[in-house]
Amino acid sequence: MQLTLKIWRQKNASDKGGFVTYPVKDVSKDMSFLEMLDVLNEGLIEKGEDPVHFDHDCREGICGTCSLYINGKPHGPLQTTTCQLHMRSFSDGQTITIEPWRAKAFPIVKDLVVNRSAFDRIIQAGGYVSVGTGGVPDANEIPIPKNIADLAMDAAQCIGCGACVAACKNASAMLFTSAKISQLALLPQGQVERKTRAEKMVAQMDAEGFGACTNTGACEAECPKGISITNIARMNREYFSAVLSSENI
Ligand code: FES
Repeated sequence: MQLTLKIWRQKNASDKGGFVTYPVKDVSKDMSFLEMLDVLNEGLIEKGEDPVHFDHDCREGICGTCSLYINGKPHGPLQTTTCQLHMRSFSDGQTITIEPWRAKAFPIVKDLVVNRSAFDRIIQAGGYVSVGTGGVPDANEIPIPKNIADLAMDAAQCIGCGACVAACKNASAMLFTSAKISQLALLPQGQVERKTRAEKMVAQMDAEGFGACTNTGACEAECPKGISITNIARMNREYFSAVLSSENI
């Protein structure tokens, strides 16, 4: 395959940045999208040029670091992570536009790399549980109904890639935050901090500059792990019941 890549290049957060066009040849349809970028970068390095910076780690759809906006969609044309996208999803001669996640709360570090530490701070605000130290508990000591366990595990599939934010016209992080709140609110182990968790995490989400949810559902449609927006409804219930029972009102 021969392709034309239009890639966003930006030296640092304060640089204006712009698109640079690169032709690439001999791309196998069996390459992953990131392998195709590796080939481009090998050519740039051979010519003494600065390679295109992009985030990646596991390349197995687990870590959530591969954050590319491809032809106007987070992670490209399929509902998967960029590292699990293969070149067979594109056609010979196609032009592919590659941009970083676009959100104020995700400032650009360089080229296609954005700083997603805002997500870490939301987790630090309340995405944890208190556990008693001591011996290892028996596996069946805390029975959890299967339907509840399934809902919690579905929410726990969120890999924090940020596609939900990139897909949302408001750059809202409510799908991410609600998945993290839900996985703990549903389980007995998450009950200790339940009342304060939603308040703290939502407050941090707002402080980071993410937008509000207007129920367009773009986040769910683009999420590579299929996280449901029903988690947002659960987060809202958790938040309002926490606020209404707060001693501050
Ligand atoms: S590199 Fe880890 S999910 Fe893509």
